[in-house]
Amino acid sequence: MCRSNQNSILSQTRTILPFLILLFAAASPSPANPTFRPSSTLDPKQLTALQSMGLPVGRDPCSNPSPHNNATACDSGTPFRHLISLRLSNCSPDLDLSPTALRSLHTLRSLSFFRCPIPPIKRFPSPLDSSLRSFSCISSLRPLSGILLSHLHNLTDLSIKDVPISVSSPFIIFSQMHNLLSATISNTTLSGQLPRHWHSLSLFHLDLSLNMLKGPVPGSISLLESLEFLNLSSNSLTGLLPDAIGDLIFLKTASFARNALSGPIPETMAAMPELTELDLSFNQFNSSIPRFLSEMKSLTHLNLESNNFQGVIPFNSSFIKRLVVFKVSGNSNLCYNRSVLSSKLMLGIAPCDKYGLPVPPPPGKADKDDSFSDYDYGGEDDGGGGEKGGGGHHGVNKLVLGVAIGLSCLVFLVIFLVCLSKIYG
Ligand SMILES: *[C@@H]1O[C@H](CO)[C@@H](O)[C@H](O)[C@H]1NC(C)=O
Ligand SMILES: *[C@@H]1O[C@H](CO)[C@@H](O)[C@H](O)[C@H]1NC(C)=O
Ligand SMILES: *[C@@H]1O[C@H](CO)[C@@H](O)[C@H](O)[C@H]1NC(C)=O
Ligand SMILES: *[C@@H]1O[C@H](CO)[C@@H](O)[C@H](O)[C@H]1NC(C)=O
Ligand SMILES: *[C@@H]1O[C@H](CO)[C@@H](O)[C@H](O)[C@H]1NC(C)=O
Ligand SMILES: *[C@@H]1O[C@H](CO)[C@@H](O)[C@H](O)[C@H]1NC(C)=O
Ligand SMILES: *[C@@H]1O[C@H](CO)[C@@H](O)[C@H](O)[C@H]1NC(C)=O
Repeated sequence: MCRSNQNSILSQTRTILPFLILLFAAASPSPANPTFRPSSTLDPKQLTALQSMGLPVGRDPCSNPSPHNNATACDSGTPFRHLISLRLSNCSPDLDLSPTALRSLHTLRSLSFFRCPIPPIKRFPSPLDSSLRSFSCISSLRPLSGILLSHLHNLTDLSIKDVPISVSSPFIIFSQMHNLLSATISNTTLSGQLPRHWHSLSLFHLDLSLNMLKGPVPGSISLLESLEFLNLSSNSLTGLLPDAIGDLIFLKTASFARNALSGPIPETMAAMPELTELDLSFNQFNSSIPRFLSEMKSLTHLNLESNNFQGVIPFNSSFIKRLVVFKVSGNSNLCYNRSVLSSKLMLGIAPCDKYGLPVPPPPGKADKDDSFSDYDYGGEDDGGGGEKGGGGHHGVNKLVLGVAIGLSCLVFLVIFLVCLSKIYG
């Protein structure tokens, strides 16, 4: 208790001191600031900074926040108030973020850029870089530096969307952030592997979708034991889902969609009581579908579309009807038991024969889309399912390939024999 009080007093003095120095330094308004109005309740230094960025700030950004756009929020300091939150949107491409202006905005806790290109700076000046708790940058064509992000080590909330990132390894970006609660880096050029070590163990929201991440999902992701939302969809992740995933007992939403993951759905997931939404679509998962999914009480969204799941669907219709979303089409080796599930469920997969294998679609029916067709996935099986070679087409292809290889071997042998006879003859 005592210690933390001391700390906060210390940190207050630390933040107030530079401010006092600034105040003295700012004794006279700069000539570059003709619109300076002493009647503002905002710290004049900060008003100047806003104006130098070319922002359309009103007479007093603190006392008259525009109701339609939360561009600014201020504390209730005296004699002057200070900015704690600033949102820059639709700025001009030559927005000028001078170090002087940024330095005077060190009271900011939240800074966001919306359709506002950030100039190519590598670091916000101290102490702004360490005082920011929330940072976001949405929709910008100019690349944002991962180094800039990595210096924001006191962030709890990071949100980057629809922005290219230069120096984009998650390891670099996250390595110094110990207090993150929510991190979104989505539709960027984030690349490299998922970090094996996380410092922000209280993270509850992690969205790294639509990036260029490669490699496995490391088991150490289970260290993020507060995680409730995980979206790793649309990357190039490979390998198996780690068994440790089942340790994420608070996880509600998990999407691994549109990667190249394979293997089974880990048994350990049976012990995730909160799991509501599981999206594994468009991967290469290739086991049978585990029955335990139907015993997960919270599950309402289950998407297993376009994988290489095999065997008989282990679910009954009361479970499937309970789900809000259930997708299994695009699994050519998967089938449903006609005496358990009705074709009216239109699961988009074939019924099973008595051996539990998919009944091949009757010829000609595959193309026609008569609304109750179970074969509407037709030819969408793009590679993922091809390896196991179940269906008739694959058999024919193999035959042709075999004959071709045999013939070329024969030709080779003949040439070889001719050569031999030339040498010895
Ligand atoms: C402004 O802030 C309030 C409260 O934080 C929020 O409800 C509202 O949606 C915000 N408006 C805009 C335009 O961001
Ligand atoms: C980081 O955030 C905490 C609040 O959780 C704050 O007390 C501390 O002063 C911040 N650190 C810096 C360097 O601003
Ligand atoms: C991703 O971001 C780009 C701009 O960088 C945008 O044009 C595109 O629509 C975004 N995609 C999605 C799915 O949001
Ligand atoms: C995961 O991210 C993708 C792409 O950003 C998005 O389309 C999808 O809705 C997200 N999934 C969930 C469950 O939020
Ligand atoms: C699933 O794919 C993995 C490789 O990703 C392979 O090792 C395994 O044997 C496959 N399992 C089945 C049942 O096909
Ligand atoms: C359907 O499956 C669930 C879970 O496996 C089970 O609890 C339930 O009793 C089954 N319902 C019927 C009608 O068989
Ligand atoms: C389909 O279900 C029936 C009744 O539950 C069962 O007797 C039969 O073995 C099942 N068929 C397959 C292929 O699993």
